[in-house]
Amino acid sequence: PSLEKDFLPVYYGWFLSKKSSENLRKTGQAFLDELGSLKVFKKESKYFLPAEDPKVKLDLTSYFAKRPPGVLHCTTKFTDFGKAMGADEYAQQEVVKASYGKAFTLTISALFLTTKTAGARVELSEQELLLWPGDVDKILPTDNLPKGSRAHITLGCASGIDPVQTGIDLLEFVKLEKAGNKGDDIEEVGGGKLQYFGNGMWMLLLSKKIEVKALFSGYYG
Ligand code: A2P
Repeated sequence: PSLEKDFLPVYYGWFLSKKSSENLRKTGQAFLDELGSLKVFKKESKYFLPAEDPKVKLDLTSYFAKRPPGVLHCTTKFTDFGKAMGADEYAQQEVVKASYGKAFTLTISALFLTTKTAGARVELSEQELLLWPGDVDKILPTDNLPKGSRAHITLGCASGIDPVQTGIDLLEFVKLEKAGNKGDDIEEVGGGKLQYFGNGMWMLLLSKKIEVKALFSGYYG
């Protein structure tokens, strides 16, 4: 029996290099700035404004004031020090052990924003998908979405929202896409094609995907 089994992290994931993290934060900020200034967005900004005071000026940067501390990351498995469902099974996989401390390149295909969260959508490679848990790509037990659908990097959360919400929000987009709701093609903007899914759900499909360097590791609180 090894001592290592007593050390399961809060979560496993890919941790961006300092430089990749800073660049992605800037890209996310530019997205908020641009979206916030668009007429189409302003017309639909009621979802982001308090019902009792819908005339206040919306500033998306302060709206998503809860930003992840330190370098940005893409969670693979939330293990909660081993308390989470499937934590041990995940940690014991050979591919997890063999990949621990190894560097990867993650591809970001889109940026998205809801009334609760802002995030980057991650497109995992075949090799990266081997590290993806089998049980996280659903909101409802009956959901049947492609593996890796939830893969994301949280960029910011609205007041009172926990980062776990970002992945749930992304799954919501994927479910809408799957149902054939491709989102109104709003317009071409700086970075790509902006889509609106209603209810304050926006997605920017990047015309040029972003590659970030990231280390597969665990986070110990
Ligand atoms: P993410 O932003 O990638 O969704 P906390 O700070 O609440 O302990 O969470 C640490 C990280 O683990 C969060 O950034 C969140 O990552 C992820 N996370 C938290 N709770 C869950 C959960 N129940 N399921 C999946 N991921 C979670």
